[in-house]
Amino acid sequence: MNNIYPIYDKMMTREQKEALLQQRGVLVWFTGLSGSGKSTVALGVERELHKRGILCRILDGDNVRAGINNNLGFSEADRTENIRRIAEVAKLFVQTGIVTLACFVSPTRHIRNMARHIVGEEDFKEVYVSTPLAECERRDVKGLYARARRGEVKDFTGISAPFEPPLQPNLDIDTAQLSLEESVSRVVALILQNK
Ligand code: ADX
Repeated sequence: MNNIYPIYDKMMTREQKEALLQQRGVLVWFTGLSGSGKSTVALGVERELHKRGILCRILDGDNVRAGINNNLGFSEADRTENIRRIAEVAKLFVQTGIVTLACFVSPTRHIRNMARHIVGEEDFKEVYVSTPLAECERRDVKGLYARARRGEVKDFTGISAPFEPPLQPNLDIDTAQLSLEESVSRVVALILQNK
């Protein structure tokens, strides 16, 4: 990397961008099983914040994997690379002052710690969408649990690949217990605390 010359010192600063937008950038990291409700809650949060004049960006597994990460699968190494790239992209948004909502299974503590480290502790809020496996499987929105049970999808998180719950999330939301409205308002409150 000897011939790389970053120009960060010449660019306008995060503080200037935050002053322009009148908001603070933060990364809200949703982790949980497939079908737990991460993206659904994030969509609600985005709408709610938009109404309040706060600029947001959602990054989610299915979209990112269809684009920037379309060369990655679900081995441990590929998931790690998936999350590394996402965290780097999220950091760009956060440093532009944008409230960034990342919705990824991100199944291990190691992977989530990497994301936290890339983005920086100050700017990272972890939301564990703790909807139980039985409920995610009952919903089976994408039909993937049924396929995983039949052995047609390998390394499927919760069935044939591990999920390690966060030890100290900023928020724990079980969408089998809470209404969508309640889940959204808890996340919005977390973000507004940070304003
Ligand atoms: S992560 O583990 O690397 O964080 P990510 O959130 O990007 O995963 O993608 C998860 C989504 O990919 C799931 O919601 C599901 O739709 C789909 N998917 C396909 N195969 C798998 C698998 N083996 N394990 C988990 N999710 C899978």
